[in-house]
This record gives sequence, structure tokens and C-alpha cells, in this order.
Amino acid sequence: MLPILARIIMDLVVAMERLSRVMVRVDLISDSPQETEGFGASLGQLLRGGELICLEGELGSGKTTFIQGLGRGLGVDRPITSPTFTLVNEYRGKNLTFYHVDLYRVGSGQEIIASGLDDFFFGDGVCAIEWAEKAKGLVPPERLWITLKHEGQSRRLISMEAIGPGYEALLSSLEGEVARRRR
Ligand SMILES: Nc1ncnc2c1ncn2[C@@H]1O[C@H](COP(=O)(O)OP(=O)(O)OP(=O)(O)O)[C@@H](O)[C@H]1O
Ligand SMILES: [Mg+2]
Repeated sequence: MLPILARIIMDLVVAMERLSRVMVRVDLISDSPQETEGFGASLGQLLRGGELICLEGELGSGKTTFIQGLGRGLGVDRPITSPTFTLVNEYRGKNLTFYHVDLYRVGSGQEIIASGLDDFFFGDGVCAIEWAEKAKGLVPPERLWITLKHEGQSRRLISMEAIGPGYEALLSSLEGEVARRRR
């Protein structure tokens, strides 16, 4: 009986802790691949290392385009292409390492763990994951979660959710930066 009670109390504490985490959300509209790439670059310029950027969105919604911008913002000076057979591509940015993970071909969370991909989610560099919903139970709770949606031929809705104080500050800075550029 007691262990069950302790378990319930623990679960309640965890749930309350989750609820008390303020989530900051910023929605951006992009009207071209260049604009999506530019948003990625603005975000990339704000990163300092250790960040996890999770991207979710249907085929062709712009995940890779956004990540190409991220790389540019980080100072990667070679072309960023989707990791097809390797699942992860590694790039050297100006000051840190950038990992581009693509989980499109991954079938299960077990496969992610077996291939050691989850190590990249906790590293010192910057890690961006395409099809991140496949790793939902494996990524650390604090992260930036970006959902891209088709809103037309060349329009995309880019919704960004920050969980954790560092990511909230990051998103606020990005919002300021985007507003400044639009002025
Ligand atoms: N506003 C936009 N932002 C991003 N891409 C756009 C936009 N408008 C049109 N596109 C087109 O949509 C496609 C986006 O391709 P991209 O490879 O970035 O998507 P993806 O989400 O990575 O796809 P996949 O799921 O196949 O990996 C490109 O062909 C791009 O030219
Ligand atoms: Mg892609």
C-alpha cells in the first residue's frame, strides 16, 4: 500500500512541476524558403552551445530549410543536406559543433537508443532533430520545439515552443530580433 501511495505522490509532484513550467510560444509566418532560412539563421546566431532544437512537420514543410539557416547562423560554411544513410551529420560552426539528426527513417525509440543517437540530444554542441516527434519520450524536457505547417504553396506557419528558462530567454531574444529586422 505504502509504495503505491508514495508512487502516486511522486507522480503528482512531477505533474505539478510540469504544470508550473511556463511555456513561451512564438508563432512566425514565412512566405518563402528564404524567409524560413532567415528565421533559422536568426535563431542560430543566438545559440551558445548545448541547445536542442526539435522540429516536427509534414514532408516538405521546411524543416531542412530552417536547419540550413540555423547552420548559417552558427557559422557553418559548407552546404547542409539531409543526413540520409547516416541519420546524423556533423558540422563545425564558428564556435561549436552542430549536429543535424534526421529521424525520418527511424522506426522506434529503441532504434534511436540502439544507434546511440540519443547521445547527441545531451551534448555540448547544438543539436537539431527533424521528425523529432519520434524521439518525444527520449529528448530532455527542456528544449525548443518547432512545429511547421503548410499554410499554402509558399506559406508556412512556424510555431516555436520553449520549455525551460534558457529556451524561454532564447525565444524572447529571437522574437525581438525578428521584430527589429521587420522594422
Ligand atoms: N515558406 C517556405 N518555407 C520553407 N520552404 C518552403 C516555403 N515555401 C515553399 N517551400 C518549399 O518547400 C520545400 C521545403 O523543403 P524542406 O526539405 O525544407 O522540407 P522538410 O520539412 O525538411 O521535408 P522532409 O520532411 O522531406 O525532410 C522546398 O521545396 C521549399 O522550396
Ligand atoms: Mg528534411
